[in-house]
Amino acid sequence: MQARAPLMIEHRLIERMLLVIKGILAEIESKHKADPVFVDIAVDFIRVYADRTHHGKEEDILFRELNKKALTPEDRLIMKELIEDHVFGRQITKSIVEANTRYRNGDKAALADITANLKTLTEFYPRHIEKEDKVFFPSSKTYFTDEEDQAMLAGFWEFDRKMIHEKYKALVEGFEGQ
Ligand SMILES: [Fe+2]
Ligand SMILES: [Fe+2]
Repeated sequence: MQARAPLMIEHRLIERMLLVIKGILAEIESKHKADPVFVDIAVDFIRVYADRTHHGKEEDILFRELNKKALTPEDRLIMKELIEDHVFGRQITKSIVEANTRYRNGDKAALADITANLKTLTEFYPRHIEKEDKVFFPSSKTYFTDEEDQAMLAGFWEFDRKMIHEKYKALVEGFEGQ
């Protein structure tokens, strides 16, 4: 298996979740109300799966290893854009969390902010995935030997192994800190 395979498999699950979010958005628009618990669950997926687990492997392993290579100016530019997309995704998620809190506290106007930000996410993220799958990952591969690629793959599995523990440790610490 190539190192990019698990990243691409994760892209497929993220796409499926974005479709679920799109369906919920249509429901919010027709009913003029949102379920804050669904928004929490969507945020948890984005933060823990898409950002920490998926972007974590991209940034902490793939991009870090690429940084050691003599990238073409084009590839370096795309990598910079991808990192900016990740940052943008975190900002959007933060806005969703803030709007959801306001909505829970009775601010009906916050519904428009929840939907606008969820919509932005469903529109921008597929383009990010496409840029990685079709452009960046294929050209990234050319910088690595097969051994280096397999070492990254091993690094990905090790990274994943820690995630479930990190998630639930943070959950307990969150309760303890309350
Ligand atoms: Fe990415
Ligand atoms: Fe990705």
